[in-house]
Amino acid sequence: MKYITAFAAAVLLTCPISVSHADEAAVGWHSVDDIVARIGSTHFPDKDFNATDFGARGDGQTDSQEAINNAIEACHEAGGGRVVVPAGEYRVDGPVRLKSNVNLHLAAECTLRFSTRPSDYLPVVFTRFEGTELMNYSPPIYAFEETNIGLTGSGVIDAQADFDNWWKWKGAWSGTPANALKDGDPDQSNAIDQVRAQADEGVPAEQRVYGEGSMLRSSFVQPYRCKDVLIEGITVKNSPMWCLHPVLSENVIVRGVTVDSHGPNNDGCNPESCRYVLIEGCTFDTGDDCIAIKSGRNTDGRRLNRPSEFYVIRNCKMRDGHGGVVLGSEMSGGVRNIFVEDCEMDSPHLERAIRLKSNSNRGGYLENLFVRNVQVGEVSDAVLRVNLYYAHETGEHPPVVRNIFVENLSSQKSRYAFYFRGLEEHPIASITIRNCTFAGADKPSVIEHVKQLTMENVTFPLE
Ligand SMILES: *[C@@H]1O[C@H](CO)[C@@H](O)[C@H](O)[C@H]1NC(C)=O
Ligand SMILES: *[C@@H]1O[C@H](CO)[C@@H](O)[C@H](O)[C@H]1NC(C)=O
Ligand SMILES: *[C@@H]1O[C@H](CO)[C@@H](O)[C@H](O)[C@H]1NC(C)=O
Ligand SMILES: *[C@@H]1O[C@H](CO)[C@@H](O)[C@H](O)[C@H]1NC(C)=O
Repeated sequence: MKYITAFAAAVLLTCPISVSHADEAAVGWHSVDDIVARIGSTHFPDKDFNATDFGARGDGQTDSQEAINNAIEACHEAGGGRVVVPAGEYRVDGPVRLKSNVNLHLAAECTLRFSTRPSDYLPVVFTRFEGTELMNYSPPIYAFEETNIGLTGSGVIDAQADFDNWWKWKGAWSGTPANALKDGDPDQSNAIDQVRAQADEGVPAEQRVYGEGSMLRSSFVQPYRCKDVLIEGITVKNSPMWCLHPVLSENVIVRGVTVDSHGPNNDGCNPESCRYVLIEGCTFDTGDDCIAIKSGRNTDGRRLNRPSEFYVIRNCKMRDGHGGVVLGSEMSGGVRNIFVEDCEMDSPHLERAIRLKSNSNRGGYLENLFVRNVQVGEVSDAVLRVNLYYAHETGEHPPVVRNIFVENLSSQKSRYAFYFRGLEEHPIASITIRNCTFAGADKPSVIEHVKQLTMENVTFPLE
């Protein structure tokens, strides 16, 4: 491996290398207003349905699943409005299904506590597991092909996932407490191998049926092929796996949400193969990536060929996690035109601020990523990381990484300022870093197989 000190790299690369300014002009910061305007907002008729009128009881005892779903159905049938769940502790023994024109509103001091019995999430629904389509347990909150849906309020959704239930299906995990998985306990690995093989063989997704016995966890909140989605104000806790996971959806707003979920693969928000997404004013404190943008994995990702595009992420706070804003690793459908601004990322348990992860099995592209005005306090690994050897996999589909722009970012403490590892035959095409300060980096940056690295006014102050 070739280590270059960041200082040496700066000297080596002083001549401004021809970054594709044309690309930067076509899609650039000026695009943010257009994207946000285009997303618009959801509209719900001014009519409330009180979940308690349908039998929901915030007594911590009564299973209120059916009552909440009946309230949603009645609201939907009536042309839409708001289903209000008042203060209280609601036991919810199975999925809540969001419907068009309904805003499920959780009042202050309202908590929905979801069952941890997998059989409560049957029958299986059409969903994705780590970028592969399949029929699996329903996410606790799920919507399929709906338009104009909301999940709002200042209440809490708690899937109560723990190492005694969902999380143990992960198997070996670096964060697992010693007692979480006993030797020889079954885990998800067989099912994962099987569903990926089915995808490679072209088995239709409807025939990849998992659920019972398979040990594949679901995401917590999943709008699938939906349009006009608002998730606002709520707190999300203890997810089986990915927390907020909109898939193949358009015009999605995630605003003012707090995610506090520290289990395995507990990414905070995973917009996957969506178009026009705004994530703002959120706080993420997670067991995996805070935000990880996805677009399908390997064969399935290439078959669907639906990129993640036109996302704006702003005014968010990232605490614990493997990365603050992450592109990949399930990104075979491509990720492009992503804007990140005015965020704070800081925790001794946050590993990286901006992270791109892929490998030559994934294919696809990561391009036109714009980052500015980001304050990084402490991260334990690299402030900026691009690794195309992710998960030590190799294959026939080298990903393309280009047009990465980082401006006005400052960091206080990290192992590396940046860690860039492209593939020897397929280097990272272009990264531009301007007006940035990386203080307190313990080790020299790693820059390997990067074709164009441009730095303007980048400093590495010594402590
Ligand atoms: C819903 O009904 C309950 C019980 O009747 C009542 O206490 C609560 O105030 C109502 N909430 C709203 C928002 O109407
Ligand atoms: C740089 O970012 C900081 C926040 O990190 C912000 O306060 C400041 O205004 C930005 N500077 C410019 C020139 O945009
Ligand atoms: C760099 O900082 C200077 C001074 O604050 C500002 O004028 C310039 O626009 C910045 N450039 C970029 C690319 O952020
Ligand atoms: C260099 O970047 C810093 C932010 O890191 C900014 O304050 C300063 O104004 C920039 N200087 C120039 C000449 O652009």
